[in-house]
Amino acid sequence: MREAVRVAPSILAADHARLGDEIRAVAKAGADLIHVDVMDGHFVKNLTLGPPVIKSLRKTTKVPFDVHLMIERPEESVAAYVDAGADRLTIQAEATAHLHRALAQIRELGAKPGVAINPATPLSSIVHVLHLVDLVLVMTVNPGFGGQTFIAEVMPKLRALKALAARRHLGFDLEVDGGIDSKTAAVAAAHGANVLVAGSAIFSQKSYGPIVKALRQRAAQARLVPAPLTDALV
Ligand code: DX5
Ligand code: ZN
Repeated sequence: MREAVRVAPSILAADHARLGDEIRAVAKAGADLIHVDVMDGHFVKNLTLGPPVIKSLRKTTKVPFDVHLMIERPEESVAAYVDAGADRLTIQAEATAHLHRALAQIRELGAKPGVAINPATPLSSIVHVLHLVDLVLVMTVNPGFGGQTFIAEVMPKLRALKALAARRHLGFDLEVDGGIDSKTAAVAAAHGANVLVAGSAIFSQKSYGPIVKALRQRAAQARLVPAPLTDALV
């Protein structure tokens, strides 16, 4: 059976004065996950929200929260984010010297661990933690802001991760984040992505249902003609 592609609207692009309503609206539009970007003003320049806001927002829907920490030393606060209601908790490989420990910690706390890598970060920095994660988030923009242009040069990393997963019998999700619209969703899906994060492409629309559906459909079609597997550790 063909694997479904999931869509995770990033609330970074939502109207922050009405975050609860916006989450309910994308949930109604068929969102599979709610992507929450946490930025600390250090790892990235931007500053967003933290555990108390996530805890309040978590009550607005049953759709799982996919929390993406763009913060320095995430190991110091993963417990607070799991406690706030993160179902999937992703940390940036570049943000900690203790990646292995932090990912194990997230699992012990009861959430699904994820590891994210920036466009310039090679896969060699995460090959030794792939057995610990439920998802690998391949950044398709430099993190910090919504509305940036998709960086297609990172696509070989998706194919290489797919090859590694097959060889090592691992079952993590391959998530892409940044510059995803219905065109780039197809490119990422053809390279193996099965979870699409999209902020401005969704929240710039008047109605969210059609775009969520379009992203999922374009990606599902693209997965029928996959790009060739690459074995390189790029
Ligand atoms: C970027 C964030 C993304 C961002 C994506 O640092 O991690 O989740 O919200 O926004 P768009 O889809 O507008 O590129
Ligand atoms: Zn994100």
